[in-house]
Amino acid sequence: MSVVLAQAGLSDLKALATLAKECGESRWTEEAFYPGCRGDESEIVLVLREGASIIAYAVMAKEYDNCALYNIGVSPEKRRKGLAARLLAEGLIWGQNQACERCLLEVRASNTGAIGLYECLGFVQDGLRKRYYPNSDGSREDAVLMSKKLETQ
Ligand SMILES: CC(C)(COP(=O)(O)OP(=O)(O)OC[C@H]1O[C@@H](n2cnc3c(N)ncnc32)[C@H](O)[C@@H]1OP(=O)(O)O)[C@@H](O)C(=O)NCCC(=O)NCCS
Repeated sequence: MSVVLAQAGLSDLKALATLAKECGESRWTEEAFYPGCRGDESEIVLVLREGASIIAYAVMAKEYDNCALYNIGVSPEKRRKGLAARLLAEGLIWGQNQACERCLLEVRASNTGAIGLYECLGFVQDGLRKRYYPNSDGSREDAVLMSKKLETQ
């Protein structure tokens, strides 16, 4: 079945929250996805659909002169097929079209898979935000801050 790129809308909120949970991102509830799905220019949710299912999502937002990747997730059984790379590349084009200078993101230091993905797409590590993310056992984990310069139009 072919995989189609689309921009998510309000009717996708439930499916997005379900997929985020499968991706271990349980704080990404329907409410969290809402700003990106309501048609506001400053935040969007890009998705890949296979038939009626959403198999990947990326949440992008404009932040002054830059854009940011807020979250990205791929259905566990669809990983390592280049889907996240495809979606993020589209997110970067969106950022360029919004005249953003850089794309910023932060990621858990232990998330080596995601860091590998971002490095593949040309992101570089800018620094650490110490003890930024809470862990379920009460400890905390550093955030790696990454960014990529976007081509100006
Ligand atoms: C991180 C995630 C989005 C990657 O999605 P994906 O579709 O499997 O990634 P891609 O297939 O596009 O990977 C592109 C490249 O990134 C790197 N990469 C991706 N996942 C990797 C992993 N688990 N381990 C090492 N490198 C990885 C590889 O270099 C890969 O290229 P290759 O497969 O040719 O080696 C996916 O694993 C996921 O949804 N994880 C859970 C949610 C999450 O951690 N999100 C990021 C934090 S917000």
